[in-house]
Amino acid sequence: MSSGNAFSHSRIAILDFGSQYTQVIARRVRECRVYSEILPHHASAKRLSDFVGIILSGGPASVFSPAAPQLDQAIFSLGIPVLGICYGVQLMAFHLGGSVEFSDRREYGAGSIKIVGQSDLFQSLPPEFQVWNSHGDKVTALPPGFRAVGATENSPYAAVEDTGRRLFGLQFHPEVAHTPLGKEVLENFLYRICGCKPDWTMGSFIEESCQEIRNKVQDDRVVLGLSGGVDSSVAAALIHRAIGDQLTCIFVNNGLLRAREAETVQKFFGENFRIRLKYVDASERFLGRLVGVTDPEQKRKIIGEEFIRVFETSTKELTAENEQGHRYRYLAQGTLYPDVIESIAIDGNPAAVIKSHHNVGGLPEKMRFELLEPLRQLFKDEVRQVGLELELPKEIVFRQPFPGPGLAVRVLGEVTDERLRILRQADEIVVSEMKAADWYYKVWQSFAVLLPVQSVGVMGDQRTYENTIALRIVESQDGMTADWVRIPFEILARISSRISNEVKGVNRVCYDISSKPPSTIEWE
Ligand code: XMP
Repeated sequence: MSSGNAFSHSRIAILDFGSQYTQVIARRVRECRVYSEILPHHASAKRLSDFVGIILSGGPASVFSPAAPQLDQAIFSLGIPVLGICYGVQLMAFHLGGSVEFSDRREYGAGSIKIVGQSDLFQSLPPEFQVWNSHGDKVTALPPGFRAVGATENSPYAAVEDTGRRLFGLQFHPEVAHTPLGKEVLENFLYRICGCKPDWTMGSFIEESCQEIRNKVQDDRVVLGLSGGVDSSVAAALIHRAIGDQLTCIFVNNGLLRAREAETVQKFFGENFRIRLKYVDASERFLGRLVGVTDPEQKRKIIGEEFIRVFETSTKELTAENEQGHRYRYLAQGTLYPDVIESIAIDGNPAAVIKSHHNVGGLPEKMRFELLEPLRQLFKDEVRQVGLELELPKEIVFRQPFPGPGLAVRVLGEVTDERLRILRQADEIVVSEMKAADWYYKVWQSFAVLLPVQSVGVMGDQRTYENTIALRIVESQDGMTADWVRIPFEILARISSRISNEVKGVNRVCYDISSKPPSTIEWE
């Protein structure tokens, strides 16, 4: 990964052995204001030699398994501090001459650790505190040079160290919330043992990143496809801070946006932020191609293809409009760190290899842009912080995810003007009631779906035969799994009655009580 010339922070490497917590470790380290990177478990000692500390993640494997993920053992003699967590400490013991006992029963859950020796890892911590365990195998004899510094009921070797070689190990997981003092343990490792300073702040990131963007772009021009979502908005604001009018954003109205979205984006970025914005109203083209299409994947394919065409034409127009003949050399994208982590699935645990599978994008290579991805070092929560520091409003920084194909995948069946009108009005009511009740920012997503179903109702003395709206309100960490929100009935009641009263063409509202899996968040 290129960290650029301006990058001045000390770096911690996290070797990934397939733990579901690898990204959590990386984020915890960053919360201690120390920059961390995730590397595959087999990264060479040479590659690790310019890091100031190494953390070995846990993992689902047993060190005795023939397929057990291994590491370059030269890492142990680099003289760089190494902290092995769970599987990481078992690997240390296994390779350095201790013993590990195989167990097919996992020790899982809360326990408490007693500190049994003086250790930098536990400076300023109480003599006994609560920890979270999740391991099968355990260390039963220490390698030469090691000593125990913490014990649990089940293991005299819950925390171990060899200060001569600067090797440390924890059987428990300091990175999870169920180890309440885990952050203090990590801080001790980072500050006392690795000598890190807490200088990874989003303020310093913005400064360094702007310098890096200027160095890279020089006099060239940059184009960015602005969707109005968090990532592209923050990328736009950051690049604009760095190079001002050398950045032009293209905002494509595909006719599938939420109510007032196009106006809001234009007003905010164009007028308030004074970013050069090319607004392209391509709604007729998109909607024209969607006539008669009902298959969800077909809808996505058409929208993706059409987006590329519109974007291509718009960048050509930009180049033609540019009188000084400056070249649009760079295409900026809001790619984030979880999309670029080098990782491999271990024991069927795909935790770190999930990519943003959905993104409409994939601009063709023949467009010959070079990529500018200033957020590729950041996790989502860091991107939000950068957004706030760049003075983007809360409405943009904390907005809910919205699918690239927009309302097309929420109008089930054929997309028509009339069905889009119904969905937009219903959706606007959902958003405004969620905000009014102070729930909008607490959930992952809350939206309306228009079903291809009509049912009977009554209005006054009249029998009606109208459409059904489904409400989808879910909580989730990353969109990969989700659960429906147990939202107070009063809010559901208000949303339902407003939709049936105010949206012409709807006489029934249902609440979706399915989790993901087996359902998905979107209905198409
Ligand atoms: P599903 O429906 O797969 O959605 O449970 C998971 C998350 O992804 C979003 N989503 C999409 N985002 N293009 C996107 O950019 C898409 O085609 C797409 N489909 C779903 C969805 O809103 C949820 O946050």
